[in-house]
Amino acid sequence: MALAGLHYNASAVTGLTKMTYLETAAEFYSKVAQKPEVGLCCVQSSPLQLPGLKIPPQMQEMNYGCGTTVHPAELGNEPTVLYVGVGGGLEALQFAYFSRRQGGVIAVDPVAEMRQAASRNLAQAAKENPWFDTAFVDIREGDAFNLPVADASVDAIAQNCLFNIFEPADLNKALKEAFRVLKPGGKLLMSDPIATRPIPLHLRQDERLRAMCLSGALTYEEYTQHLINVGFGQVEIRARRPYRLLDCQTYNLEEPLLLESLDSVSFKVEIPEDGTCIFTGKTAIYMGNEEFFDDRAGHILQRGVPAVVCDKTAGKLGALLSKDVLITDSTWHYTGGGCC
Ligand SMILES: C[S@@+](CC[C@H](N)C(=O)[O-])C[C@H]1O[C@@H](n2cnc3c(N)ncnc32)[C@H](O)[C@@H]1O
Repeated sequence: MALAGLHYNASAVTGLTKMTYLETAAEFYSKVAQKPEVGLCCVQSSPLQLPGLKIPPQMQEMNYGCGTTVHPAELGNEPTVLYVGVGGGLEALQFAYFSRRQGGVIAVDPVAEMRQAASRNLAQAAKENPWFDTAFVDIREGDAFNLPVADASVDAIAQNCLFNIFEPADLNKALKEAFRVLKPGGKLLMSDPIATRPIPLHLRQDERLRAMCLSGALTYEEYTQHLINVGFGQVEIRARRPYRLLDCQTYNLEEPLLLESLDSVSFKVEIPEDGTCIFTGKTAIYMGNEEFFDDRAGHILQRGVPAVVCDKTAGKLGALLSKDVLITDSTWHYTGGGCC
């Protein structure tokens, strides 16, 4: 028996063969492509409003993202964007708003029903948005582990609420694949749930909860370490906010477990000698006796003036200057500029 919408070895799924968690996820998304579940993954916020952009209601209903990956400041010069896990096509349309050319957005999904739903929604969007042509989004069959594009061929790659579903070894594969297709200097735009403490095994092994983006999340430290391991030289955190609470009764927990959603942008740039720069919105403020402090490593702090620093530099300056520097907390919405 072949299951509709499965790309992964679907014909091998028989009464005797257990589905893999990736097949469970594909089957789940096949169902919610055919019968939308409003609010499945999304946070309680309306999608990014852009002048002259109308989102068809059926596309809005299929907003299965947990934050946003569309950061206008990263989308100048009509970039080629590869979108992984197209869902109902909402963010593909938003990216097309910036690239506005044939094939400017390549959207990949292994689930046939999801690709069909996205095509329908984008066709509707073309009726409602005079600037948009369906040829702007090239929908392709494929998956996060085998992206159907050449090495170093895209300016940006985006995924929203998909990579958190992957087990750590698969997450590593998907990130390596993203790194492969990005041009030097290219950006990986992601939004995913993260967990405020490790998720217990009984939930991590629940494939349906994992598919629903409720039990595969890593902690912030684990998540960012994956990005570092793959080779991104700079990571910027754009937003971090509460996402879902796993309560004790429903999820068989001793303490409730808060999930957050994390929006980030990772750059395929050389890793500095002392390691990847992660910007979370910290600043360093010099308050010593001199007019400024120069650490002779590229950071000059004017007395009393906050300088944006990555977390690594914040740690170093704190250790070096101790009482002469104030390091402000992470704001979790860093949007550019800074030390490295
Ligand atoms: C949680 S939904 C997110 C959809 C969309 N990004 C959004 O924000 O609305 C996950 C999407 O990833 C797709 N998907 C599932 N497994 C995948 C895989 N291995 N590779 C790429 N996409 C996958 C699903 O079909 C679905 O479209």
